[in-house]
Amino acid sequence: MVAAVADNGVIGVDGDIPWRIPEDFAHFKRTTLGHTLVMGRSTYDSIGRPLPGRTTIVLTRTPTWSADGVLVASSFDEALSLAEELPGDVMVAGGAAVYAAAMGRADEQVLTEVHQSPQGDTFYPSFDRSEWVESNREAHDGFDVVRWVRRGDHR
Ligand SMILES: NC(=O)c1ccc[n+]([C@@H]2O[C@H](COP(=O)([O-])OP(=O)(O)OC[C@H]3O[C@@H](n4cnc5c(N)ncnc54)[C@H](OP(=O)(O)O)[C@@H]3O)[C@@H](O)[C@H]2O)c1
Repeated sequence: MVAAVADNGVIGVDGDIPWRIPEDFAHFKRTTLGHTLVMGRSTYDSIGRPLPGRTTIVLTRTPTWSADGVLVASSFDEALSLAEELPGDVMVAGGAAVYAAAMGRADEQVLTEVHQSPQGDTFYPSFDRSEWVESNREAHDGFDVVRWVRRGDHR
């Protein structure tokens, strides 16, 4: 799971991200290059194109939906089956329902903690911190990048 989450849990507003932090975009790119991204159809629409250097699987319940250069899945399980055949790790890139669907299956969360509390309409799901270990924290100007590893799954 890769997400940027404000102090108040907000991840999105009006189909977009409520902040612009180029350093975090660079971190997202470094983290995800060479891997497979699973994202909801709204998140894909907000990006508007497949991200280069990564395979994108878009989740949608609309059977006729398609876009050039991406794979489509109608359930999280189907996305995981497709991803099994692909190189790299499976990285869940949002939004809220997709993070919620993935939370029970994920073994790692790489969260950018954005030190802002913006208005928003989309939130990162809460998770039981006793099931996760904070394995790394990097402080930056205005945000921290925190790696959570599922307890018992130290790598
Ligand atoms: N801060 C961050 O790190 C971050 C990351 C990602 C997104 N965001 C923000 O979050 C917002 C978008 O997130 P969102 O939660 O509104 O939407 P979303 O999760 O990106 O997309 C929702 C859509 O995905 C499809 N979908 C979701 N779960 C599915 C499942 N289990 N099976 C099949 N299809 C499924 C459905 O598409 P259909 O309607 O086509 O059936 C659903 O309407 C935007 O504001 C975006 O900028 C922020």
